[in-house]
Amino acid sequence: MAENIYELKDVSYSWVDGRPALDGVSLAIPSGKRVAIIGANGSGKSTLLTLLDGLAFAKAGSLTAFGAALDAKALGRPDLQRAFRRRVGYVFQNSDAQLFCPTIREDLEFGPLQLDVAEGEVARRVEAISRRLGLGDLLERPPHELSVGEKKKAALASTFTLETEVLLLDEPTAGIDPQTMRDLVDLLQEAHAGGRTIVFATHDLHLVEELADEVHVFGRDHRLARSGTPEEILTDHAFLLAQNLVHIHVHRHAHGVHQHEHGHAIAPVKKVPARRKKGKRG
Ligand SMILES: Nc1ncnc2c1ncn2[C@@H]1O[C@H](COP(=O)(O)OP(=O)(O)OP(=O)(O)O)[C@@H](O)[C@H]1O
Ligand SMILES: [Mg+2]
Repeated sequence: MAENIYELKDVSYSWVDGRPALDGVSLAIPSGKRVAIIGANGSGKSTLLTLLDGLAFAKAGSLTAFGAALDAKALGRPDLQRAFRRRVGYVFQNSDAQLFCPTIREDLEFGPLQLDVAEGEVARRVEAISRRLGLGDLLERPPHELSVGEKKKAALASTFTLETEVLLLDEPTAGIDPQTMRDLVDLLQEAHAGGRTIVFATHDLHLVEELADEVHVFGRDHRLARSGTPEEILTDHAFLLAQNLVHIHVHRHAHGVHQHEHGHAIAPVKKVPARRKKGKRG
């Protein structure tokens, strides 16, 4: 059986004292798996990834990474901090938190140079990922000039240049166009084939269906509501509706309005009773 990269036992966290962001969470992230984290806004997905990246530490319970405690004491040691950063890369939900150099090229070079990757190798990685994600002339531009989707592409590229064995991705497809989405999925599938471990938080259930081996669903109470395979989770309409993960989609047609659940592709569409639109278009 694969070893676990991360193990969480009863982990709780609050950003503001007294207001939980994660409450009593126990789960494991096995080596080499693609693990999706889903849940309503504010349920704790980004908080979980922040803890997995060692940017904040569990306030209760225990969290281990690579078999050792991931806590302030461990990451306070420069040698352990460095070893951890060589192994784990993180794409922030907010790209502005990740891009801070005068140009995107420098942002892509920054991480690997910090980790003492040789300059020639850094240049090779930047060139390769820029080609794969179609960054083109974005490389020479300052991050603040870029569109939201362009920033996300650049942020993804800056994490890929680290070539870490674990990839933590917070809303990796938010704001990116369909071609970039394909390029990203291909990159992640290759990373998986190469044995890397991928943890991603998303509202994109298509991505969960296409990519995930395992899914963890966080509830609005900041607890783990359910874990399972994509098939188990994505075919349970009642559960998805209760967790705010699908909505009733209303279509307007010349003859009136009909509605159905909307959210993803695995499960057959479940019809809900039609609602005739009042007025002249009805
Ligand atoms: N920096 C912060 N300071 C204070 N509270 C925070 C901070 N970051 C998150 N929170 C709170 O912690 C809880 C979990 O937030 P988190 O960002 O982890 O949710 P999320 O599931 O990632 O949501 P989203 O789908 O909107 O990205 C929320 O109640 C949120 O308001
Ligand atoms: Mg989030």
